[in-house]
Amino acid sequence: MTALDIPALLGSLTLAEKAALLDGADFWRTQGIERLGIPSVMVTDGPHGLRKQAGESDHVGLHDSVPATCFPPAAGLASTWDPELLQRIGAALGRECRAEEVAVLLGPGINMKRSPLCGRNFEYFSEDPHLAGELGTALVNGVQSEGVGTSLKHFAANNQETDRMTVSADVDERTLREIYLPAFERVVTGAQPWTVMCSYNRINGTYASEDHWLLTDVLRGEWGFTGLVVSDWGAVNRRDAGVAAGLDLEMPSSGGSGTEIILQAVRAGTLAEQDVDLAVTRVLELVNRALPALGPGQTFDADAHHALAREAAVESAVLLKNDGGILPLTPTGRVAVIGEFARTPRFQGAGSSQVNPTRTESFLEALPAGLDVVFAAGFEIESAAADPALVEEAVAAARDAEVAVVFLGLPPSYESEGYDREHMDLPAHQIDLLHAVADINDTVVVVLSNGSAVTVAPWQHRAKAILEGWLLGQAGGAATADLLLGVANPAGKLAETLPLRFEDNPTIGTFPGEHGHVRYGEGLLIGYRWYDAHRLDVAYPFGHGLSYTSFSYSDLAVSEDRVTLTVTNTGDRDGAEVVQVYVTDPQASVFRPEQELRGFARVFLAAGASQTVTVPLGRRAFAFWHPALRRWTVEGGEFGIRVGSSSRDIRLEATLNLPGDTVVTPLAAESTAEEWLAHPAAGPWFREQLTGPFEAMLFDPRNGQMMRAIPMVRLSRFPGFPISETHVADAVARYTA
Ligand code: BGC
Repeated sequence: MTALDIPALLGSLTLAEKAALLDGADFWRTQGIERLGIPSVMVTDGPHGLRKQAGESDHVGLHDSVPATCFPPAAGLASTWDPELLQRIGAALGRECRAEEVAVLLGPGINMKRSPLCGRNFEYFSEDPHLAGELGTALVNGVQSEGVGTSLKHFAANNQETDRMTVSADVDERTLREIYLPAFERVVTGAQPWTVMCSYNRINGTYASEDHWLLTDVLRGEWGFTGLVVSDWGAVNRRDAGVAAGLDLEMPSSGGSGTEIILQAVRAGTLAEQDVDLAVTRVLELVNRALPALGPGQTFDADAHHALAREAAVESAVLLKNDGGILPLTPTGRVAVIGEFARTPRFQGAGSSQVNPTRTESFLEALPAGLDVVFAAGFEIESAAADPALVEEAVAAARDAEVAVVFLGLPPSYESEGYDREHMDLPAHQIDLLHAVADINDTVVVVLSNGSAVTVAPWQHRAKAILEGWLLGQAGGAATADLLLGVANPAGKLAETLPLRFEDNPTIGTFPGEHGHVRYGEGLLIGYRWYDAHRLDVAYPFGHGLSYTSFSYSDLAVSEDRVTLTVTNTGDRDGAEVVQVYVTDPQASVFRPEQELRGFARVFLAAGASQTVTVPLGRRAFAFWHPALRRWTVEGGEFGIRVGSSSRDIRLEATLNLPGDTVVTPLAAESTAEEWLAHPAAGPWFREQLTGPFEAMLFDPRNGQMMRAIPMVRLSRFPGFPISETHVADAVARYTA
């Protein structure tokens, strides 16, 4: 099909047709206009697999969809810290979209994990914007390399499910810029997703779907986004305000009401027709981008994609502890496998991302023949209480076993799109089961299945090893067997902190908010930034993950642009290490988190091998968002570089001196005498005017500091102060011109 001639179409479309193009045709399709040869294209969920509904449609995953490879959801994929792998998964997703004639895959979701309780944490990558941004970029590049678009979501500050369609996320600009926006910025600048999906919520009182600052000034103006903005499903509040703000396409179909509002607003002169034309242009550009890939005849290799899902699952699991090197298992006797999850795997979360897998395989089914295995379910997954008979059976299985592998996890009903969790704990009866098993056999390995973080501190002493499996997608069973038996070597690292206690987390008291507002009171201190600032011990820190081998770090060299070092595999197994680079700014004039992840590199090394690893940095790695200048700023001076195997396992450190940006804080009459004195132009002028007792007072070694903290305008009203209020006003005009 030949590309649409957009300028010509803009001349031919009636206003009613233009307005109609800005509305969906149904749940998943854009409007087509037959008389002008404009086809309709299909967009659909994901994002860790394709969820294309062939029959009845809904947006929360109630109705069936066509079979598709179910890769690990984002919580798992994030733990790989492996952009190259995510790019390959993205390409596989793209091929599956093409086979189903889907133009845009609705993902990835890259919102920050602000609270461990967010019901959609399994769909999000991390508590750290750098990690989420790098992984999101890779996934988007992968999908789009196959000629299929993505929808980067949910833009922005959608960090909870409670009241998600109305709540106002009240966040100061510096926190938005440094924590909640950078992952979006990174993906937009690094991968140009075809579409961005605006979120349901409000930000500081304004709906994302009608926030001109967000959708136009920042997204397009500052970051250079060239694609289309689509509403989250049902996120439109006032359609005309949305068009003016930069929200191009309303989804799903409003049934014509959105179209009518646009028409009336243009006719009434409250919405500019050129805003409508701009949005129409973006819809048509999206159609043009999609055209080459549409049409039947594409296929994908389901076996190859299953193998990729297995590789991804292996890399997603995180080995939290491994006392005495109990793993990998080399059993000569009986292995007791306990827990229903070993037979009925939980491999993805619920809601709009729920995929219908091409196949599944449980851990039990995946175990190699020849092992002496006894299985006991131990519990029913959704049951609220213990079943004494199942517990008894599990204890009996463990009694004579060489090792008990206990599968624990969150029941599906605990975590889903649409609502938040109530607590961070595993069901109490599962923990009771663990105690009962460990009482009879102290060689216990725990395997966890959970999409969002759970507390491990209360029970982890009962297990010699813990494998955090997150949700591992359709090949998770085989991947878990590979890891436990040493066919594969774990390399996953935590993309979020596991606190000791739920009560330690940064959002206590401010999540999920009340009366329509959620105040981001912890500011910059999300995740590890909080635990570090408060010197809190944690169960497992951000970036943690063990291997069956060991690595040493040496030869650190640092510059503004990059960090280089040598990593050596000092153990006797091949394996991968994720080197993490944290930057510190000990001399800042503003509050800065203790350390922030600014780069990482994953390196695979054969046993005994060494490699030079380079991690790119760049000036932005040292910058903060200056709240008064409203731009990224590097203050000159000393910075620290910490290189580690986790945020709390720093192996090498160095310092670096960087020249600063010119920072001239804008003056006002209310600026303090200190700020006036520091101003490059106003300072010398002020110094010249200062005579008599006030000169002495301002520079008095004991009281001077107190005096210099007084706003200039107040000083000017003091009897005898040598500068009048009018002169202050004149000086403000002169020096801020
Ligand atoms: C979700 C989106 C999803 C959309 C379409 C919404 O409820 O928030 O993530 O893409 O539905 O199913």
